[in-house]
Amino acid sequence: MIVRDSALTLIVSVIATLVVDIADAAPEFGKLVVLHRHGARTPMGVVDGALVCAYPYCQLTNQGKDMCRTLGRYISTTYNSTGLINLPENYNVSFMSSIGTDYSRVVVSGEAMVMGLYEGSPLQALPFVDFIPITDDVELVMWKSWPSYIIRNTYDTEVHVDDAWVRAFINESHLTELGQYFGIEALCASSPTDCVGFVQDSIACNVSSGSPVPSWIFERWEDYRVVVSKFLALMLGYDPSDSYDQNVGSFGYPFATSALKFLTNPNSGLLQLRHFAAHDWTLIAVYSALGIWTPPDAGNTTFVPRFAETLLLEQWTDSGVTYIKAKWGYPNQTSGSGYAYNFRVANMSCMSADGVVYGALSTAQSWCPVDDLWRFVNSTAPLSALGNCYATDDSLQAQNCDGDDAPPAGSRCLFYRQKCPAASCGQTDGAIADPARGYMCQSQQLGKDTPFMAATIVALVAPALLGGAITGFYFTNKFRSVFWSLTGTAPPSVDEKQPLAQEK
Ligand SMILES: *[C@@H]1O[C@H](CO)[C@@H](O)[C@H](O)[C@H]1NC(C)=O
Ligand SMILES: *[C@@H]1O[C@H](CO)[C@@H](O)[C@H](O)[C@H]1NC(C)=O
Ligand SMILES: *[C@@H]1O[C@H](CO)[C@@H](O)[C@H](O)[C@H]1NC(C)=O
Ligand SMILES: *[C@@H]1O[C@H](CO)[C@@H](O)[C@H](O)[C@H]1NC(C)=O
Ligand SMILES: *[C@@H]1O[C@H](CO)[C@@H](O)[C@H](O)[C@H]1NC(C)=O
Ligand SMILES: *[C@@H]1O[C@H](CO)[C@@H](O)[C@H](O)[C@H]1NC(C)=O
Ligand SMILES: *[C@@H]1O[C@H](CO)[C@@H](O)[C@H](O)[C@H]1NC(C)=O
Ligand SMILES: *[C@@H]1O[C@H](CO)[C@@H](O)[C@H](O)[C@H]1NC(C)=O
Repeated sequence: MIVRDSALTLIVSVIATLVVDIADAAPEFGKLVVLHRHGARTPMGVVDGALVCAYPYCQLTNQGKDMCRTLGRYISTTYNSTGLINLPENYNVSFMSSIGTDYSRVVVSGEAMVMGLYEGSPLQALPFVDFIPITDDVELVMWKSWPSYIIRNTYDTEVHVDDAWVRAFINESHLTELGQYFGIEALCASSPTDCVGFVQDSIACNVSSGSPVPSWIFERWEDYRVVVSKFLALMLGYDPSDSYDQNVGSFGYPFATSALKFLTNPNSGLLQLRHFAAHDWTLIAVYSALGIWTPPDAGNTTFVPRFAETLLLEQWTDSGVTYIKAKWGYPNQTSGSGYAYNFRVANMSCMSADGVVYGALSTAQSWCPVDDLWRFVNSTAPLSALGNCYATDDSLQAQNCDGDDAPPAGSRCLFYRQKCPAASCGQTDGAIADPARGYMCQSQQLGKDTPFMAATIVALVAPALLGGAITGFYFTNKFRSVFWSLTGTAPPSVDEKQPLAQEK
């Protein structure tokens, strides 16, 4: 009897322990990062044989705004109404921050998302969407800010790599017909990827605005999307076996690391939601750094982002371990459809301590332990100490940037030398670009007496501030405050308009 009682007691206590363990194990939601492409816009233009996506082209449409408002409503019902996050009834930048890129279609998309999120709030939200200058925006607009991209002339290089394949896959007569129909014969003859990219994008625009698309064109939309997927892969996908990619790192690495820092920072205070509005190119770069996109996905049309396509990064804690779960989705693209979003879990790549890569989808909760995600993201960090200032001799030569002369105004070489004071300059060992002499190459020894050179040399020995990017004293004040608030390494900005300063 006594034996039985104690056995029973043991069983009861074991069950009690189990119950406690199960209760402890309920995963807890922490913070959220939202990164989305702008909503639907008007088509690109072709001007002087090149694609143009600036006014009067590429303007956000009402449908595009509605898509982003729908996203805001989705975030509200999925995360706030359920108590996963707690946004006060009235818009308050202490609890969320929004950053766009310096393009009106993106800023307004970001504003529309915030308005959807605060729909029904007694004080109507007047959203604050911050941005930094395009040429400094290394996290969201890499193709205008990374000196490595500019000096390599990456777009013009990659857009022709598959020319022969595109001509065969789409076929010459169809390309000619497209050129005639859209009045872009020269572009379709000289740059088939640009030609197909233009048509693919125009179809998406017409679907979103309710304009007709001729059936002989619509029929091959999926093929055009294969072409675009392959192009985006060439341009933005990180290939771990490619030595150039290894040196410069993945284009999504700066964004991924700052998102992870926010999600894992125990001192982020009231800030629960960081919201970013950007571009299709940004999404592919970030998918690549998180291993959602991997090289075999070149040509997979899932990786041609739709308008207002969104990546959600959720931070969870379970039994003391932090996990990150990614979801992605996009709204119904059809004009007047209501733009309902369809999200699913994304297969991020996680890397265990012994270097084995596995997919988030292979875990019970479809998430990565944060250390394993860090390890994967870190595996896409630049190997070269120059980071996004990395340049090959070939590209320096192709841009006439291998000599000592001052580069011409507006040249790729000038941009490169202005952004990369630590990169070696010209033919003389140890020479650096001298801002006081139009960025001609000067020996450091010679220039020590001039104030500009002194500043440059200081910048050289200062630690690389941002993910291997040596941009030295080129940080604007605004950028610096964003950076500091992300890393928590400096006093908060006194500028009250800076929502990120509140992160402290
Ligand atoms: C978030 O949810 C809380 C609790 O349900 C609610 O009081 C608040 O108004 C919601 N905030 C927004 C912006 O809808
Ligand atoms: C935002 O929330 C913070 C913290 O609760 C509060 O101190 C501040 O007054 C709020 N700001 C506005 C504009 O309501
Ligand atoms: C080229 O593509 C068009 C459209 O798909 C098709 O009708 C035509 O037969 C193709 N021509 C050749 C030569 O394959
Ligand atoms: C989109 O619609 C416009 C206006 O109706 C038309 O001119 C254009 O050719 C269409 N584009 C495509 C790809 O069908
Ligand atoms: C394309 O990528 C998606 C997302 O990773 C995947 O589910 C799908 O199977 C891929 N398609 C092909 C044809 O590989
Ligand atoms: C998108 O909306 C249109 C129009 O409402 C509808 O016909 C279509 O089935 C929807 N597509 C999806 C994938 O739900
Ligand atoms: C998820 O990613 C892993 C690692 O990249 C891959 O091995 C696996 O096949 C992927 N799973 C699915 C369902 O796509
Ligand atoms: C990833 O890199 C960061 C910064 O370089 C470092 O602090 C961190 O420890 C690394 N994490 C892992 C899991 O390797």
